[in-house]
Amino acid sequence: MMAAKLLDGEALAATLKEKLKAKVEELKSKGKTVVLNAVQVGENAASRVYIKNQKGSCEEIGLTYELKELPAETTQEELDKFIDGLNNDPNVTGIILQMPVPKQIDARTVQRRISPAKDVEGMHPMNMGNLVFGDMKVGPCTPLGAMELLKANGIDLKGKETVVVGHSEIVGKPLALMLLSSMNESATPTVCHIATQDLASHTKRADLLFVACGVPGLVKGDMIKDGAIVVDIGINRVPDLDKDGNAVLNKKGKPKKKTVGDVVFEEAVEKASMITPVPGGVGPLTVMMLLQNTVSLAEAAG
Ligand SMILES: NC(=O)c1ccc[n+]([C@@H]2O[C@H](COP(=O)([O-])OP(=O)(O)OC[C@H]3O[C@@H](n4cnc5c(N)ncnc54)[C@H](O)[C@@H]3O)[C@@H](O)[C@H]2O)c1
Repeated sequence: MMAAKLLDGEALAATLKEKLKAKVEELKSKGKTVVLNAVQVGENAASRVYIKNQKGSCEEIGLTYELKELPAETTQEELDKFIDGLNNDPNVTGIILQMPVPKQIDARTVQRRISPAKDVEGMHPMNMGNLVFGDMKVGPCTPLGAMELLKANGIDLKGKETVVVGHSEIVGKPLALMLLSSMNESATPTVCHIATQDLASHTKRADLLFVACGVPGLVKGDMIKDGAIVVDIGINRVPDLDKDGNAVLNKKGKPKKKTVGDVVFEEAVEKASMITPVPGGVGPLTVMMLLQNTVSLAEAAG
């Protein structure tokens, strides 16, 4: 069996970036505002890196990115009011809440407070509802990215035996809905999760297999059908080991880590016909879909 073709998310992200850049230019030339506001409550080292990357990606396509920093002791009521202000500000076309938030803040409440017309993460119940009705304006970025990767590689979904492993609100569930969004050409998805009995019996049937659990090594080669298309959405940091199982050390003598998905890549690549690498598969498309949602909402704004 030949090794699978790699579904290259980096290359597709670069192509999409150019398209979005042209779109932003067009919107600006028509006098439209394209401004994303990121709201951060309190300080957080991890989200600082994320914000820096987000800002860089926005600026690369000509989109204005403004960071709104609120003190760590901000109350829910104060944050709600702040969000209302952004909702009513015509100079802001997109809003994103940076995670994590301090414990006195309920992130779900804030996600509901953000106007669906400025919800660049596609997580507002109204936008999720539009997904159920097959009328998606914007959607959750990671499953959107996975769908975009299939589309770009000419993968037909119609009737396909499809298994999604993972049923979170942000990935698995919306992905299943996206797979069902066409009236006559949808895939035939099964959604597996932590309570699923005999996971392998499901994954082995899949012509199209998506895995989004956050469990490295969950899907092994013998759980994959010959010739299947495998989309590994998991992102896990694990110790880097050499072939004898010893820790690989960095220059400072500390154990190195590497990024892997939820699928045992070396085994799956021998069984699948196409597979996403991790990193470099769905990951780079997630940020591109955030930008795409932002541009779509700016375009739709009055
Ligand atoms: N590629 C990206 O840009 C991107 C974006 C978001 C999340 N992720 C990654 O996707 C993974 C999932 O993220 P999430 O936010 O959906 O996670 P989550 O923790 O919210 O959900 C995990 C899901 O996996 C299921 N699950 C866990 N263990 C299982 C097992 N042993 N067998 C079957 N199902 C099992 C759970 O039931 C649940 O539905 C993580 O690795 C995360 O880092 C990647």
